[in-house]
Formats: sequence, C-alpha cells, structure tokens
Amino acid sequence: MKLSVYALPTLVPPNSQGPAVVIDVLRATSVMVTALANGAAAITAVEEIEAARTLAAGYPASDVLLGGERRARPIPGFDFGNSPREYTADKVADKHIILTTTNGTRALASLAKVEPLFIGAFLNARAVAETLARLGQDTMLVCAGTNGRFTLDDIACAGMITAYLSELVPDLDLDDLAYSAHFLYRNHAQNIKGLISHAQHYSYLQSIGLEADIDYCLQVDTVDLVPKVENGTVRKE
Ligand code: MLT
Repeated sequence: MKLSVYALPTLVPPNSQGPAVVIDVLRATSVMVTALANGAAAITAVEEIEAARTLAAGYPASDVLLGGERRARPIPGFDFGNSPREYTADKVADKHIILTTTNGTRALASLAKVEPLFIGAFLNARAVAETLARLGQDTMLVCAGTNGRFTLDDIACAGMITAYLSELVPDLDLDDLAYSAHFLYRNHAQNIKGLISHAQHYSYLQSIGLEADIDYCLQVDTVDLVPKVENGTVRKE
C-alpha cells in the first residue's frame, strides 16, 4: 500500500484515484467533522457565497443552515461562521448545512472526481487511519493549504495520520512528502501547538481573537467518525 501526501490540491495529478483524504485543520475540515459528530444530517460544500444562498433557498427554512467564512470572519446573513465551536448539537442536529470557505470547500471541489474522498482533521485522525488501513489501497492525503500556499497545520495532521497508518500497515510505502510529514510530526508530537504556532494562518486567527478555535482544532482523536464526500455533500460514512 502506497501513501502519497500533497501539500496543495493543485499538486494532485489529474485523473488521480481515491481513496483520498482532504485536510484543512484550521478550520474547514474540523468544522465538518464537528458538525457531523454533533448530528448534522449532511454538509454541502460550495465555492461561492451566492451559490450557497441559492442552494439554501431550495430547502425548507427549518431544515437548512448556512455557514462559512471569508478572511476567517462570518459572512453577513449566514447562521454560522467557520468556528467549529459554533456547530453544537442543539443547533445542528438533523440540519443540512451549506458551507462555503476560502480554501477547504475549494479543495473539495477540486477533488470532486476522486472516490472515495474522506475528510480528515486532528479530531478524527485515528479513525481516518483505521478506515484507510481497512481499505488497504494506495491512498492520497491532500492538504488544503491557505490561499494557495503550503501550511504547517495541514502537513502536521498528514504526518499524524501517516504515523497511525504506519502502525496499522507495517509495509506502508511512503512517498517523499509522506516521509517528511511523518518525520515532522514525530519530532513535534509532544508539542503540536508549538509547531503550528509558526503557521501564518495560526497567527492570523490569533490576531482576530480566534485562539480558542485553534485549541479546539488541535484536539486529537476526540471524534470516531470519518466523513465521506459524494457529489460535494459530506456525510457520515
Ligand atoms: C478555509 O477553508 O479557508 C479555512 O477553514 C479558513 C478559516 O476559516 O480559518
């Protein structure tokens, strides 16, 4: 079984096959994992704000919620921003969430043809590794990055999933970036926050008062589910 890690969705070769995992730790995939763990029925990821509004208008108002961000801030008129801490069970249970974010939902769109496509974060890293080990096929971990640039938070999470998967699949064949991510993670496993504090998006979120979101997203293995994406909609597997 081969494991490839991509620093950005744009680096994934055309016509690549799944299984693949999209990782946007700060904060889109952490939001998706949280919302589904808290009982949301589904999340449809769309790229543009107006498309999100149009899609939501097609649902009964009591069934749908709009969430997302631009520059990490809530979008006017939306029910939620992109803070996973907002997506509590009392608000999201049985709701269909339409989500638009700057990088995370775009990463999903760019991998629309890859199947199966899963959602990964620190919150569900072990569950992701277990699912991939069960499938036993060549796999890609795809980091969403931030504004087209590599990010430490996503690669550290890819390194954690690689470490878990290496325990489960002893002859796992790592490509160069999987090896590097694993190495980076192993060397910082005792202080992931210290590593990620060097990420630009970390500093930005901190500068706008969202450090509690960072702490939330850096929790490890608190969720035992692996969301799966089909036709742009994310559900529990
Ligand atoms: C994104 O998808 O760009 C991010 O999740 C940004 C954020 O809200 O922190």
